[in-house]
Amino acid sequence: MNEQLKANGVTVRFGGLTAVSNVSFSLKAGEIVGLIGPNGAGKTTLFSSLVGLQKLSAGEIHLDGQRIDGRRPHVIAKAGMTKTFQNTALFPGMSLLDNVMTAGLLNNTLEAARTLAHECLERVGLGADAGRNVDDLTFPQKALGEVARALAIRPRILLLDEVMAALTPLEMDKVMATLRDLRDRTGLTMVVVEHHMRAIMNLSDRLLVLNFGKLIADGLPQEVSRDPRVIEAYLGSEHAQAA
Ligand SMILES: Nc1ncnc2c1ncn2[C@@H]1O[C@H](COP(=O)(O)OP(=O)(O)O)[C@@H](O)[C@H]1O
Ligand SMILES: [Mg+2]
Repeated sequence: MNEQLKANGVTVRFGGLTAVSNVSFSLKAGEIVGLIGPNGAGKTTLFSSLVGLQKLSAGEIHLDGQRIDGRRPHVIAKAGMTKTFQNTALFPGMSLLDNVMTAGLLNNTLEAARTLAHECLERVGLGADAGRNVDDLTFPQKALGEVARALAIRPRILLLDEVMAALTPLEMDKVMATLRDLRDRTGLTMVVVEHHMRAIMNLSDRLLVLNFGKLIADGLPQEVSRDPRVIEAYLGSEHAQAA
């Protein structure tokens, strides 16, 4: 059993709406898994439920064989899993280093947080940009800055919620190469939500597809992209963003 994370029948209801419906999947250490699906499919809600920000209506989540659903977010973060927030950005007007330090300060002294922040910036290739004001960074640098800030929590599993949304396809390629390199060097497991289909297919070892809260596919990117149910989910949705 080399499953690092296992989700079993995860269900999240908001009143009459089932945002995540009986979703089961597992992650192996060091995998990069793409999570795709039309707007409103439940991707962000699934992420929130995994890291303890959203209570499950049903189901179980196991990290390293230990049940973690129902635990507080900081406890799950300490156990090794954290997520970035959709539509949040780095704190404006501050240096990149200070931004990354804010995350490391929770569990470290000021000096240790500074050392850790430098390490995390190195890991995403931004070591030379530590002192720059984040307002002066390019979009790819900002995206990688968000990744560095999340790394300061020292996760073994990192859930990335549309950190590349503002990027052009060419910029995305650069950021994705850095993410792959990060995985190769550190063994970090990543689940990545991104709308750009070609980009996410190139990045991911495996794809999960959500539609109306249900997991409709889980497999190799090439297989999943040919799956009639996946094609239908995108073509049949007025929100389809598959490029
Ligand atoms: N806190 C909430 N309260 C009520 N409904 C919510 C809440 N969060 C998300 N939803 C609904 O759950 C569904 C899934 O949303 P979300 O997880 O944000 O989808 P995605 O990230 O795939 O676009 C949507 O219909 C959304 O409106
Ligand atoms: Mg979302």
